[in-house]
Amino acid sequence: MQIVKAYSYQELSKKASEIVIKAIAKKPDLVLGLATGSTPLGLYQLLVEANKNGEADFSKVKTFNLDEYAGLKKDNTQSYHYFMQENLFSKINIEKENIHILGDEGKSPEEECKIYEDKIKEAGGIDLQILGIGSNGHIAFNEPGSSKDSRTRIIKLDEKTRQDNARFFRSIDEVPTHAFTMGIGTILEAREIILLAGKSKKEIIQKVISSQPIPEIPASFLKLHSNCAFIIEE
Ligand code: GLP
Repeated sequence: MQIVKAYSYQELSKKASEIVIKAIAKKPDLVLGLATGSTPLGLYQLLVEANKNGEADFSKVKTFNLDEYAGLKKDNTQSYHYFMQENLFSKINIEKENIHILGDEGKSPEEECKIYEDKIKEAGGIDLQILGIGSNGHIAFNEPGSSKDSRTRIIKLDEKTRQDNARFFRSIDEVPTHAFTMGIGTILEAREIILLAGKSKKEIIQKVISSQPIPEIPASFLKLHSNCAFIIEE
């Protein structure tokens, strides 16, 4: 695991955008894994600019989002469907059929997860996965206790996660109790991974760095990946 230090949020976003832009230039039909949360917002803004300037063409890029709340409608302003549309997809030249987000098939949760895994395989696997990190060490919505071999599934959200994410809802009671998430095993199959962590994640990043790979700190499993970088704001 490589640690890349950034000295501002702007620099963190810039470093991440350079990696994504280079990857698209090298492979125009890149399979890109995407994250939500406030951390990747700067990256998404830079990707929108790069698309406008002609530096990044998304016309052949396929995307797979990491997670989505269970039980929220796509047009709910707190859904990750809405977030992605607002912050990235509506502003770049991506084809609608190349966008994948969990919970889209109108099937049972188990079927949704199986179809998602199949679609990732059909696309040839994820080339580059963007990750954020929860204050409890979760990646996507793989909460503490998730195994390194876990696959895409429905998970019960930790109370800590619901509290952290309550800032986006009117009250904590509106925060869903469950979510769809790619598994840790699914994430570890990506060819390259970059995890972005702003200043507020200092404590959990220290824990990840000093820990062995253990289920109590799901992000620590990224240490098992041979091409994973943490871009951290100092
Ligand atoms: C949510 C998402 C994660 C994300 C985390 C951190 O829980 N499911 O994928 O990494 O939030 O969000 P933020 O970047 O807002 O701190």
